[in-house]
Amino acid sequence: MYTTSLSNEQQALVLRTWSRLIPSSAEFTDRFYHRLFAAHPDVAQLFGGTDMARQGSRLAHAIDAVVNAMPRLDEMTPILAELGRRHVGYGVRHGDYDAVGAALLETLAEFLGEEWNPEVESAWLTVYTHVSGIMRQAAVAPLRAAG
Ligand code: HEM
Repeated sequence: MYTTSLSNEQQALVLRTWSRLIPSSAEFTDRFYHRLFAAHPDVAQLFGGTDMARQGSRLAHAIDAVVNAMPRLDEMTPILAELGRRHVGYGVRHGDYDAVGAALLETLAEFLGEEWNPEVESAWLTVYTHVSGIMRQAAVAPLRAAG
């Protein structure tokens, strides 16, 4: 079982900072993908045929779902595992999750400005590590089962 300890304080920081970003979530996800593709041009190829406006809104909804589920994050495990398995089909590799995590934190820092600090960073990193950990684990599980 994959568990992460996310303190009440960390949950409050993530909830508060995400609420600030919701009104500009389209700009936020635009900027996130821009940063990701600038740093990792190979990753951009995975989105070759993708409608990026639609993708941005799906990502914003996924973040929103996770943020709102924080008090009972374990209940999201099956959904996140399924999301991770779908990502194998999209051509996503293990290491790509680090690239996405870095771009996410950088974009959060950019949009939050003075509200960004080590505590906020650590709270978001904990959430991202939890979510991406489940997705990654689900992605490799079938390979393990196949021996
Ligand atoms: C916490 C991490 C992530 C979350 C929450 C997330 C979320 C999503 C969501 C909600 C979708 C829509 C389709 C679906 O639900 O299956 C999607 C599609 C996709 N994601 Fe992610 N993702 C994550 C990590 C990644 C990473 C690391 C990559 C690789 C760089 C990636 C690449 C893609 C691609 C290529 C698609 C398909 C786009 C298309 O439909 O053309 N994602 N992601």
